[in-house]
Amino acid sequence: MKASAKAPSNIAFIKYWGKKNEVLRLPENGSISLNLDNLWTKTTVEFNPKYSKDFVTINGEAETGEESRVIKHLERIRKLAGINHKAKVVSYNNFPIATGLSSSASGFAALTVAAAWAAGLNLSEKELSILARQSSGSSCRSIPDGFVQWLAGNTSQTSYAVSLYPPDYWDIVDVVAIVSEGKKEVSSTSGQQMAISSPFFKLRLAKIKEKIRLIKKFMAKKDFPAFGELLEVEALELHAIMLTSTPSLIYWTPGTLMIMKLVKKWRQSGIEVYFTINTGQDVHLICQGKTKATVLAKLKKINTVKKIIINKPAQGARLVQKHLF
Ligand code: DP6
Repeated sequence: MKASAKAPSNIAFIKYWGKKNEVLRLPENGSISLNLDNLWTKTTVEFNPKYSKDFVTINGEAETGEESRVIKHLERIRKLAGINHKAKVVSYNNFPIATGLSSSASGFAALTVAAAWAAGLNLSEKELSILARQSSGSSCRSIPDGFVQWLAGNTSQTSYAVSLYPPDYWDIVDVVAIVSEGKKEVSSTSGQQMAISSPFFKLRLAKIKEKIRLIKKFMAKKDFPAFGELLEVEALELHAIMLTSTPSLIYWTPGTLMIMKLVKKWRQSGIEVYFTINTGQDVHLICQGKTKATVLAKLKKINTVKKIIINKPAQGARLVQKHLF
């Protein structure tokens, strides 16, 4: 059977960094994120006895090799569904992959929803989130709608994401400043394995539950300055862990740093905007809808910014009618 799905990428306000179980992708800590409406993946999956092997095409390029994460995920889904037909997978992202814009989150969420349905499984949101998590941790947060919490859990069945608020709950905008379209040198998966080597990682874990409690409180009150301050502190803490890992991970470029400093300067002049950064050089500028035009006007004047992507809160992964083949 053939099925197609569309899934958003997401930006974490409290980050997932470090796994307590590599195989099941159980995170060391819970995380909080927002689904993004303008960074998405569409994927079509067909399981059919006519295919002699799995064919995977991402953005027009064939993926090969048994080690492919996509094929491993297809295996997981075939096992669950009790089928053994090979599959054809065609996937399209509306943004560059592997540059730190969380293409694995949208990509694996779309793959999970399309492949599960194509394999004849009718799974709940929770089951889809658990399944997606095993392919790429952050993709479990792209399954539910809007503002999302990933409950860390201690077992596969207790580690999944839930929606805290629907997309229209809060008029938050994520303006992504692309400073380079170069692919990152170290993947999130490899980077995460180094987290534990940072002398500060244990301290981070000791304080993370309180951080999650606080950010949820600020979200409930829609206290934007408190929310923004905390998400920025969290991004800097994530990068402090990366910088102090062995080997150290430096994802920033001069363009990244320049925007970080400018955001702080703009705030001093009264503009309510905060930054967060993942495993890449690009900067996510988080503001409210009413501040979007001011932030855009400022960013457009910076010539190191190659491209700007504006995101509103989005719903989670969904099946779609239109197939890609
Ligand atoms: C910095 O979900 O890409 O973006 O589970 O190994 O696929 P894997 O890692 P991934 O890591 C995301 C890391 C992050 C933080 C976050 O999104 O929470």
